[in-house]
Amino acid sequence: MEHDPVDALLARVGFRPEHAEQLVRLRPLMHPLAHEMALAFYDHLGQDPSTRALLWKEPGRVERLYGNFEQWYRQLFDGVYDEAYAETRWRIGVVHARHGVRISALIPAVGQVYALALEHLLFALRPLDLPPALEALNKVLTLDTTLMAESYELATAAGLEHGADWETAPQQGAEWLLGQAKRRSAFVRGG
Ligand code: HEM
Repeated sequence: MEHDPVDALLARVGFRPEHAEQLVRLRPLMHPLAHEMALAFYDHLGQDPSTRALLWKEPGRVERLYGNFEQWYRQLFDGVYDEAYAETRWRIGVVHARHGVRISALIPAVGQVYALALEHLLFALRPLDLPPALEALNKVLTLDTTLMAESYELATAAGLEHGADWETAPQQGAEWLLGQAKRRSAFVRGG
């Protein structure tokens, strides 16, 4: 099983060049909010006790996640949705699968990002500018959800192929895929 080409995914999501242009127009408004978004996002996730336990399990983890999330969030508005963009999203999906975060937990979290951004845009934009902005935001978040979901499918398939049962397949497959990626990049670097 392989990743679908990015063009096929963009077409499936209905993500068009005008959505990319719209997101770039939102960039000056949205980039400065990255840290505030990260704080609100993890505050929301932390309201669930088991998620809170996972996020605060290791010292320094949640602080590292603020930075990771901010980078992810800023890229939404950078206007480039190519193979390299997809690669970062696939990897994020696989990292979550390895930590046992289920896709059914990631999807509502993406919804929360939409809700937080909506709150801000309702306040910052003129009423006429809102519909195209929200359409573009919805498209890019759907694209990200699709890419992360694809990596769960790949991780599950890899886990099953390597003898895991249905329950543990995403986690074990993710471990295997990340190991492969590490070996590949060590090989490319000549390490
Ligand atoms: C919109 C949804 C989410 C985004 C954009 C996001 C973003 C990220 C990013 C960028 C990373 C770093 C990936 C890497 O190392 O390459 C990460 C790691 C992680 N995320 Fe998320 N996340 C989301 C939802 C969640 C949820 C719902 C949970 C828990 C239920 C969660 C728990 C974690 C954990 C445990 C890690 C690994 C932390 C570590 O490196 O020690 N994330 N996330």
